[in-house]
Amino acid sequence: MASDRGLFVTFEGGEGAGKSTQIRRLAASLERAGETVVVTREPGGSPGAEAVRHVLLSGAAEPFGTRMEAILFAAARNDHVEEVIRPALERGDIVLCDRFADSSRVYQGVTGNLPSAFIELLQHVAINGVNPDCTLILDIPAEVGLARARKRGSDLAAAPDRFEKEKLETHEKRREGFLDIAAREPDRCHVIDALDAENVIAAQIERIVLSQIAARA
Ligand code: TYD
Repeated sequence: MASDRGLFVTFEGGEGAGKSTQIRRLAASLERAGETVVVTREPGGSPGAEAVRHVLLSGAAEPFGTRMEAILFAAARNDHVEEVIRPALERGDIVLCDRFADSSRVYQGVTGNLPSAFIELLQHVAINGVNPDCTLILDIPAEVGLARARKRGSDLAAAPDRFEKEKLETHEKRREGFLDIAAREPDRCHVIDALDAENVIAAQIERIVLSQIAARA
């Protein structure tokens, strides 16, 4: 367990899998049940990490290479862990985090071609013992996810970020990367079919998280 008291839940998956919608729904239903919930995201989630977020997503760090980007993601993660996540867990809150270390394993490791030993070393420093209790991997074919993300982008008149704009094949490799992590860590990871209806997904996620809360008690 990440903490004796709180519960740390991370959401992972490719672009357009519907993580933010599901996080919003889960937070609302847990709050209705009387839980204190902290919703946060990466890269970012604390003032220090938000400062690094723009450098990463704008592509400003891209010319310096994937090692540099991986280290920046880790620096942001450590600030987020120490400033927001650890204190919340120590208070006994439920933390719902949109992306965490598995995104670095997949985006910087699998598709950034960085050795997994290097990525794991960075995560060791960044996470500093605050491991997710439960990770929900929203699985979607890359083509469908990207189409959804593009639609969202055009709704908001926003350009795709540095990672969204990579080619389809790269996004498919990421999907496989998340599924590999789930296969290696079946106790922590739950794969959710993100093609299911929003309500069906929400009910499934709620069931998983409520059982974790019951186990914690
Ligand atoms: P964002 O728009 O916040 O999120 P999402 O795609 O989840 O809606 O974009 C975050 C981007 O940063 C996303 O493309 C994944 C990428 N990323 C990494 O490459 N490594 C990481 O460690 C994290 C946390 C994110």
